[in-house]
Amino acid sequence: MPKPKIGVIGSGRLGTAIARQGSKAGYEVRIANSRGPESLGLMLSVLLPGVVAGTVDEVIGQSDVIVLAIPLNQYKTLKPELFAEKIVIDAMNYWPPTEGAIEEFMNENVTSSEYIQQYLKNARVVKTLNHIAYNELEQHHLSAGDPKRRAMVLAGDDRTAKTVVSELIDAIGFDPVDLGELKNGRKFQPDTKLFNARYLANDL
Ligand SMILES: NC(=O)c1ccc[n+]([C@@H]2O[C@H](COP(=O)([O-])OP(=O)(O)OC[C@H]3O[C@@H](n4cnc5c(N)ncnc54)[C@H](OP(=O)(O)O)[C@@H]3O)[C@@H](O)[C@H]2O)c1
Repeated sequence: MPKPKIGVIGSGRLGTAIARQGSKAGYEVRIANSRGPESLGLMLSVLLPGVVAGTVDEVIGQSDVIVLAIPLNQYKTLKPELFAEKIVIDAMNYWPPTEGAIEEFMNENVTSSEYIQQYLKNARVVKTLNHIAYNELEQHHLSAGDPKRRAMVLAGDDRTAKTVVSELIDAIGFDPVDLGELKNGRKFQPDTKLFNARYLANDL
């Protein structure tokens, strides 16, 4: 099976780190931000060789796996109709100190990724890459089998999507650990034991 094409929405701290690691692992990677591809020229040439810039809509349309690495309060700028059958990695967090309170995410019975799944209703959402700092994503990766290899948890309702995402996590240097349904993303949101913490797969 050919590697899926990765589209990263958000070219900030996290988006850049994911794009670079994905590209280094041999994936075809595209990236977009809110200002358009012309704003990314220098960054691509210096930090992201091999990564291609596009508009948000182009990157979604041309990719199989879309990584959402934008502030959560921007999610409604995404067009749900572009996401049919796409695998979506929700790497976003609800973090009121930086983004302010957002009414729908204040409901403690529903996780932020479940809201993203409801909004992108035909996408297959997997929550992961949200609980590691962008610099650690670039520094803590290790080869498969290394006893110190850090675990990366994921949650989602679509088995195939989770397999694809697990392969990506493995390829960028972490041990994927499936925590089950999307609602279990609650276990690694901000203010949980797993958030920004370093574990081995066996610890989990
Ligand atoms: N930083 C981390 O270590 C880290 C780790 C895990 C998870 N996260 C989560 O990842 C998300 C992004 O965090 P970050 O630290 O990478 O933020 P950041 O450095 O501020 O970058 C945000 C990026 O999103 C882009 N963006 C904003 N609105 C957009 C829109 N409507 N459409 C397309 N692109 C848009 C911005 O592009 P423009 O400048 O063109 O607007 C910018 O490139 C947050 O939800 C955060 O909680 C961050």
